[in-house]
Amino acid sequence: MSTPDAGRDDRLVEAAARYRGNAVSKRSGFSVGAAIEDANGKIWGGCNVENSTYGLTVCAERVAIWKALSEGVRAFRAVAVVTGANEPTPPCGACRQILWEFAGDVPVVMATASGKRKRLPLSVLFPEPFDF
Ligand code: THU
Repeated sequence: MSTPDAGRDDRLVEAAARYRGNAVSKRSGFSVGAAIEDANGKIWGGCNVENSTYGLTVCAERVAIWKALSEGVRAFRAVAVVTGANEPTPPCGACRQILWEFAGDVPVVMATASGKRKRLPLSVLFPEPFDF
């Protein structure tokens, strides 16, 4: 069923899928793309970046939001995440915390590379958040 947000979701998912193509993910073999739309409609994309220490890996969602925040953007409308998994993958716990703090209760559109999609508010994915 289409929603008023369907066009916006398509655009965000397409951007996330494009950024997934830049993933630096040879350690895990799991490529992730993310896209976050700011309050002016501009899309900021990111991919996961792994390195030889493994532990210094940064998820696609955080790369995307760091890019926006570091350019001075402070208000966001929606996030999309695209992976190659069989089912749509939600952001990890660390990313949920960061998205909550900086983007608030935005819709999170989770999609697979093969086209499956799921959409949930961040408050559903991240109930009882730590806020300080
Ligand atoms: N990853 C993300 O980019 N986002 C998430 O929300 C979950 C995990 C990345 C980290 C690592 O490079 C790979 O997926 C496997 O965990």
